[in-house]
Amino acid sequence: MEFSHNGFQLNVNDTLKFVSPEEILAWKTEVQKANEFLMNKNGKGREFLGWMSLPSDIIKKSIKKINNTAELLRKKSDLIVVVGIGGSYLGARAVIDALSHSFETLLGKKKKYPLVIYAGQNLGEDYHSNLLDVLNKNDYSVIVISKSGTTTEPAVAFRILKNHLEKKYGKKEARKRIVAVTDESKGALKKLSDTEGYKSFVIPDDVGGRYSVLTPVGLLPVAAAGLDIKELIRGSKDMQEFIDTENSIVNNPAMLYAAVRNALHRKGKAIEILASYTPNLNYFIEWWKQLYGESEGKNGKGIFPAGVNFTTDLHSMGQWIQDGTRNIFETVLWVENSSNKLTVPSDENNLDDLNYIAGKRLNEINQKAMLGTAMAHVDGGVPNIFISVPKLNEYYLGQLIYFFERACGISGYVLGVNPFDQPGVEAYKKNMFALLGKQEK
Ligand code: PA5
Repeated sequence: MEFSHNGFQLNVNDTLKFVSPEEILAWKTEVQKANEFLMNKNGKGREFLGWMSLPSDIIKKSIKKINNTAELLRKKSDLIVVVGIGGSYLGARAVIDALSHSFETLLGKKKKYPLVIYAGQNLGEDYHSNLLDVLNKNDYSVIVISKSGTTTEPAVAFRILKNHLEKKYGKKEARKRIVAVTDESKGALKKLSDTEGYKSFVIPDDVGGRYSVLTPVGLLPVAAAGLDIKELIRGSKDMQEFIDTENSIVNNPAMLYAAVRNALHRKGKAIEILASYTPNLNYFIEWWKQLYGESEGKNGKGIFPAGVNFTTDLHSMGQWIQDGTRNIFETVLWVENSSNKLTVPSDENNLDDLNYIAGKRLNEINQKAMLGTAMAHVDGGVPNIFISVPKLNEYYLGQLIYFFERACGISGYVLGVNPFDQPGVEAYKKNMFALLGKQEK
């Protein structure tokens, strides 16, 4: 069972030793119903379905406003600090890391665009102190992102950075170096932003954090990094339009992926491991983990989303995956072509015995590692779902983002949960606030 559309491919043939095609097709009605809940906006969490049509709804004027603001920030800055946590930074970081030079920080003057760095995604005192050390020595701007406008981690980081910016540049210039992305009318960040007169962007009410990468939440930082947000939207729109016209498990990749996941889950596969073969996708995996973890893990249900980066993790997690408890399945996210060309040189003495691969590109060797690993894992009892795109660029990342979002909505409904809320996240906050002595207003 395989599927391709404009470069994107999904192949579930390596799950068929574990679930038969009939067992997958048995989910047909369930996934169709789930997809209809999304399309007709009559399922649980229906008030948070704005993400479904973001790619086709966004207008040229909004893209222009985002690009213009990004350019203003770039002109002033060596560094752009994105302040946000969870859905308010992972999507942007996934795209930026996927398309950035792996040693961007060491490129020095050769860098074309300011470096995007992150704050408020943890409460580490050393992390934020180290950040200030760097900001003392560089010109910078801040994009502060919080839908609720009340999340503690980014609020604390922003207070520190605002204070630092005002001391470094004075209040007036500091204001020009801050852009806020938040709710249209409520939350502390909205109040602060209005009072200070920051340039701001709105996160639509009907789009939850982890589904917000195609709003200014993701688009502004991505544009600030010098990447092409029009292409990102074009890729996601292509996938949206395709998925919107297909309501059958055999023609709709989001429905097929959702069905296979649920079929495997029913067979005792409690953990899905998303595996990539390039470190550039590490944060894409983090974004995916949040998307699926927060959407599905509730009411005592859910497939646990884990991630590995091969081949490095074959030397750490490889043993477990090959041979540990057989309650996992693997989804490989493969990129067919690399952007650069590098071959293994020939060596006259061949003391390392590598001449048998001399002249081969690293990508080819990596591909053989991927094929060999998939075969070994399937033989070891790990079903394998294969997803690939021709290369890493904005267009294909847009396709992947929309595909995974849509499949997550369907899969969550099939599991019987509301994929658009996150009540469990409140538990730690309640305790933390009580321990910190926060007064209820
Ligand atoms: O997906 C979600 O809703 C969460 O992960 C939020 O994005 C995260 O908690 C940050 O929330 P906020 O943007 O309100 O600061």
